[in-house]
Amino acid sequence: MADSRFDSLFDLRGRAALVSGAASGLGRAMSLAFAEAGADLALADIDAAGLEDSAGRIRALGRRAFPVACDVSDPAQIRAMFSVLDRELGRIDVLANVAGEGVLGKPEEIPLEAVERTWRNLVLGRFCMCQEAGRRMLEAGRGSIINIGSIASVTALGRGHVAYSMAMGAVVQMTRELSTEWSGRGVRVNAILPAQVVNRGLEARMAADPGLRDRFLSAIPRGRLGQPDDVRGLALLLASDASAWITGAVIPMDGGNLATNAGGTIGGGP
Ligand SMILES: NC(=O)c1ccc[n+]([C@@H]2O[C@H](COP(=O)([O-])OP(=O)(O)OC[C@H]3O[C@@H](n4cnc5c(N)ncnc54)[C@H](O)[C@@H]3O)[C@@H](O)[C@H]2O)c1
Repeated sequence: MADSRFDSLFDLRGRAALVSGAASGLGRAMSLAFAEAGADLALADIDAAGLEDSAGRIRALGRRAFPVACDVSDPAQIRAMFSVLDRELGRIDVLANVAGEGVLGKPEEIPLEAVERTWRNLVLGRFCMCQEAGRRMLEAGRGSIINIGSIASVTALGRGHVAYSMAMGAVVQMTRELSTEWSGRGVRVNAILPAQVVNRGLEARMAADPGLRDRFLSAIPRGRLGQPDDVRGLALLLASDASAWITGAVIPMDGGNLATNAGGTIGGGP
């Protein structure tokens, strides 16, 4: 039987959450976790069909869902989306900043336009979302922002990740600065740093490079790649009052990757 005191720690009933990247992967998994805990949702993505699918799943849980096609690299589209949120939900208690991709390229070759596009997707987009949500949350005196970074926020991946790593590093400092400025006024800001979580892009890269899956696994002591649902528990913790005194935290969700030195040995091997 469920413990009602325990349930109430994670209860999001009566709260509104906005999740970007909600059409698939981590964003969809976070949206569904919030809806199961009772939240109503605004959902943002460039994939309109995927958004509708996520919205349908949320409504099937008995929650309200408002999908908005929005490219997070464009501040005008973000602001328009917040107008929809204001009209339909009238509040924002949780922001999950998940959408946005990087462009790969060797440091000596990558065009500056690709670096700039990556920065717009991951840094300007996340910051503009934080600013719009933060203004509303500060006025309400409460809120929780969850920024998705990456293990590339704090370690170097190589393989052409320079633009992505620079941007994801900025996401960590954005999180720390915003937490420092806002948490005294009730707005907590935390970051989750995933290692390799299976998604369409990763599947394609592993299919093109047969050794890649094993290379990833050789640095994941937990012994498997991540799945989008692996984010559910941590996301719900950070979104809810269960984490009332956790802010400015940068939390790996990585099967142990960041704890492992490249020269170490995992899984009881030699
Ligand atoms: N999957 C991983 O291994 C991994 C690891 C570390 C960090 N991340 C980061 O987590 C985030 C989500 O990754 P995922 O695995 O869920 O990927 P995913 O491809 O399953 O989902 C990403 C979603 O974001 C949407 N999107 C992309 N660019 C957008 C834009 N400019 N505006 C609005 N929507 C946009 C896509 O349509 C897609 O629905 C990304 O920022 C990614 O860099 C992923």
